[in-house]
Parts: sequence; structure tokens; C-alpha cells
Amino acid sequence: MSQRFPLPAARHPIAARFIADAAAVREAIERFGSPLHVVFPQVMAENAAALAGVLRRHGVPYDIFYAHKVNASAALLAGASAAGLGADVASATELDRALAAGFAPNRIEATGPKAPAFIERVAALGITANADDLWELDRLAAVAPAGSAVPVVLRLSGFASPVVPHSRFGIDLADADAALETVRRAPGLELRGVAFHLDTADPAARVDALTESMAVVSAAYRKGLRPSVIDIGGGFRQRFVEEPEPFQRFAQELVTAPPGDLVWPGHDLGLRHGGAAAHKYGNHRPAIDVLERFLAAEIERRPVAEVLRECMLTLWIEPGKALVDHAGLTLTEVLYRKRAAGRDLVVLDLSRNQITPADQEVLLDPVLVDGRGDPPAEGVFLAGRLCLESDLVSRRKVFLDSEPSSGDVLAFVNTAAYQMDLSASSAGGHPPPPKVAAVLDGERFTFLADDTHGS
Ligand SMILES: Cc1ncc(COP(=O)(O)O)c(C=O)c1O
Repeated sequence: MSQRFPLPAARHPIAARFIADAAAVREAIERFGSPLHVVFPQVMAENAAALAGVLRRHGVPYDIFYAHKVNASAALLAGASAAGLGADVASATELDRALAAGFAPNRIEATGPKAPAFIERVAALGITANADDLWELDRLAAVAPAGSAVPVVLRLSGFASPVVPHSRFGIDLADADAALETVRRAPGLELRGVAFHLDTADPAARVDALTESMAVVSAAYRKGLRPSVIDIGGGFRQRFVEEPEPFQRFAQELVTAPPGDLVWPGHDLGLRHGGAAAHKYGNHRPAIDVLERFLAAEIERRPVAEVLRECMLTLWIEPGKALVDHAGLTLTEVLYRKRAAGRDLVVLDLSRNQITPADQEVLLDPVLVDGRGDPPAEGVFLAGRLCLESDLVSRRKVFLDSEPSSGDVLAFVNTAAYQMDLSASSAGGHPPPPKVAAVLDGERFTFLADDTHGS
């Protein structure tokens, strides 16, 4: 028997309350089916208020754009609209959804690489275009209606600082002058600001990217342009665990554990080599810490917040995962248990790609709803419906609080950020799970099929 290595997931009180309410979980599954993605718009509203609170406390003029790509849920998008956020859309479909959810065009920003038809719609509606390339700028300039002022933000990359991670997105700083010239000459475009997006929690990286971006703002002013926005994108962290130690101990143990003991044979979750998955699931610091540390960091001995205020720049952020952190979970029924390859497997009514984005391997322990009895001494691997030998739902041996059996329900906590949609497909004829919004109303949860929102 191997050692127990439970990795409990942090739970928001609303999620904890839902999971503890076995009757509510049963009602949701009976009405909407299994597997089922449940979203909590109330948690998103809380996350939005927390981020806004930090920005207000630092006295920075700001705007928050919800990066809709993090979750296709109409309920969460409607929640963002109700919370007064803007919407960051990455496609014409997301744009349509944002308009349907009530965002006015001047509350929408289009980011990421854009196809010509999307660029045309962005220009026609006067939505802020966050330009990924000179090619996009040229097209925007060509289609922007004469006499209009389509707002443009230049997404920058190729920063000189060695601590800023490389990005394949954005306009290389070497081309910033050409980009400014394109905007300056285009009669239908107006430079709103400059942008970057970094997938890191490191405040030093954001501060360096900010400093280099502000040089582009100064260059724009010298050309007679009047940018007023610095958009630092998203990349604020999720809080997966209450405390980092169990995850750190697990990652260390994995280096020496016999192959196939803690992780399905042939896999190491990338952790054995200090891989990328480690930083995500081991994080216990909330997103507001990342924002707080950035605003308090110093540029030439003055806090970032003060520098922004003095330069009369409005700070935009585009959080995705930070806004939906803990704002959703995934339920699935246990089909059956079996022994295979000398190991205990719990087979779930779920496909691996319906809960796991491609670059994340680790799943923390799910929770057995209405579980009774003592924690089992041994862990189990979680298998699903998909067809490759590697398509386990969890390649990591998970440790449940009690023994699962057929018909029981497992809850995977905190899956709203990318996990529900990024890799989901209908492979094998299994459609992506439906979504339902669960709202805590007094003592009870009420449910709304997700597509009733925003219509
Ligand atoms: C331009 C841009 N902004 C914001 C986001 C949201 O990032 P996150 O979910 O890390 O906050 C992304 C994610 O890919 C992005 O590409």
C-alpha cells in the first residue's frame, strides 16, 4: 500500500454549501443531467468587487473587462454586465453574445488575432480594437468608416526586459513606431492606448512591461496622438488550494516515487521536471494579491499606482480566470469501479477534455457528494469515456473522503476557468455537458439553465 497523498481543493463557501446540500445536487442532476457544469454568478460578482476594491484603494482610474473566453457561460457574461464590467471578446460569436448580454459597444474590447469579417464588425460598431499585428491595423484602417474614430489599443510584445515572458501575440516593440504611424495616418482610427498580456504572477515582469509600454505612450504623444489607457491584460492567478504545503510535498515525492505509484504509468504531470502544471494547482494566493503587489511595486521609487495617476493614465485589466475563480464546479456520476493494470479505477460519466484544458494535467481531489464512512486507505485513478489510453480524467491518484460506488456523484471544484470549455469537444458522440447557473437564494439554491441568461 502506498502513502496517502490527498490534495484537497480550496472551496468557496457557496460551492462548499452546494456540495454539502446533497438534495440540491441531486435536483440539479435530475433536472439537467450528468455530467453537469454548474456556475455561480454570485461568486463572480464577489471576485469582481474584490478586484475593483484593490484598484479603488490605490486611487487608480480603471476599467475591468471580463475575458469571456474563459467560460462560454451566458450566466457569467450576464453577471459581468450586471457588475458593470466591460467585455473582452475574442471572436464574432463572443461579440454577439456580449451584445445580447447587454454590453454597449463602447463597453466591449476585441482582443486576440482577428479574421477580416470580425475586424469589419469591430470597425462598424466602433468597438475598441486591441490590435495583435500591423496587418490587423492596416485592415482596420482600410475599413474604419470615414469620419469615425474607431478606438485602437496596440498590444505590445517583444519587451527587452529578461523577466518578461516571451509572447507570440502582439506587435513587436521594434514595430511600435510603424504601428503608431498607421494609426496617426488613418482618418477613421483613434489611439486609445497600449496593451500587453502576461501569463505570470510576477510583479517585476508586469512592472517592466509597463515601463516599456509607457515609453510607447510617450512616443505616441510626440506624434500628436493622445492615448489615455494602459491595458495590462489578465493573467491574475486562481487560488486552487488553501495552503501550498501538500502540493509541494506531493511534487517532491513524485520525483522519487516508483513510476505508476502516484501517477498513472508513463505520466509525471510535468512535475517531475518542474513542469508548468505545478505553479497553477499549487497556488494559494488570490488574484487580488497579484494586482496589489503590481500596484504597490515601484518604478524609480514611486509606486506604480502613483505613476499611473500622475501620467493621467487609466488602467485596464482583462481578467478571465480571476473573475471566475471558484465560480463553477463540475458534477459527474460514478458509473462503476474496476481493477485494471493492477490499479483501482473509478469510471466516470465524463470525458477528460470536458473538464481539463490541454495544458493542465493535475486535478486536485474531487469531493464525493453525500459521502459516508472513513476515508479509504488507498487512492484511485479516475477514468472517463474517451478512447486513448492516456485519456484518464485524473492521471494522478486521487484520494476521496469515502468509498465511491455506482450512482454516487463526484464534484470537481473550481472548474469555471477554461476547464469547462477550452478543450471540450463532442468526441465519441458525447456532447459537452450542459451548464446551469446556481443561485443561492436565502437557504436554497435555485437553478437556471444557462442559455436562459443573456437572451
Ligand atoms: C489578451 C488577453 N486578455 C486576457 C486574457 C485572460 O487571461 P486570464 O484568464 O489569465 O486572466 C487572455 C487569455 O488568454 C488574453 O489573451
